[in-house]
Amino acid sequence: MATVLILGASRGIGMEFARQYAAEGHRIIATHRKPEAGETLRALGAKPIVLDMLDEGAVVEFGETMASETIDIAIINAGVAGPRGSALRAPGGLDFDAVMHTNVRAPMQLIPALSPALIAARGKLAVVSSKMGSVSLMTSTASWLYRASKAALNSALKAASLELGPQGVTCIAFHPGWVRTDMGGGSADIDVQSSVSGMRRILAAANDSSNGKFINYNGEQLSW
Ligand SMILES: NC(=O)c1ccc[n+]([C@@H]2O[C@H](COP(=O)([O-])OP(=O)(O)OC[C@H]3O[C@@H](n4cnc5c(N)ncnc54)[C@H](OP(=O)(O)O)[C@@H]3O)[C@@H](O)[C@H]2O)c1
Repeated sequence: MATVLILGASRGIGMEFARQYAAEGHRIIATHRKPEAGETLRALGAKPIVLDMLDEGAVVEFGETMASETIDIAIINAGVAGPRGSALRAPGGLDFDAVMHTNVRAPMQLIPALSPALIAARGKLAVVSSKMGSVSLMTSTASWLYRASKAALNSALKAASLELGPQGVTCIAFHPGWVRTDMGGGSADIDVQSSVSGMRRILAAANDSSNGKFINYNGEQLSW
């Protein structure tokens, strides 16, 4: 039985990670913001913990509580899309802060805080990023704030892989596909079950050679 930590498990991709890992009998620690989500996670067998990624103090405190854990798999999933505006449309300060704090600052706080627990297990760290964060694959400027945040997240994950890889932790940035969730919308390509089972397959097979890679849910390696 593995210990799996899922950050941002209230719905969508995060909740499906909790559901699938719980169904296999793993020990799940799952963070959420709303009480109803906590009840659903508890019913799945997960240990729910309230955590708002925008609350810098709460993220630090949460990291401290994880210091004594041994974590086999940590998945930093929480994310927001922000305004869909394209380049040449300046984002407002509040939007900029909300997207960057959720998608970048919180992961950059959490990765160091979770590192001892991951090193102890020679575990695996995944961030749920997006192909929209790839600079080399960019063909549109829509949602440029979100793109910039996921590019920054990818950079943070790559940097973490250089530190943690030699200490036995495998670090992966995922593109989950275009997934039918609140964020992805109803016309997206794939359902949440297929996205998550694909990423779980990759995590299960991941080894040293997967460290520092950007990987699509279907196993395809993506360029940064
Ligand atoms: N769906 C897609 O097509 C797609 C494609 C590429 C990448 N992604 C990425 O996949 C991840 C999950 O997306 P999704 O499609 O499942 O989106 P979603 O259905 O909108 O769910 C977003 C999740 O992030 C959590 N979250 C947002 N802000 C938070 C905060 N300040 N503190 C704590 N949790 C917060 C939400 O919690 P609350 O319920 O509390 O708001 C929810 O659990 C995101 O990082 C997203 O960027 C999605």
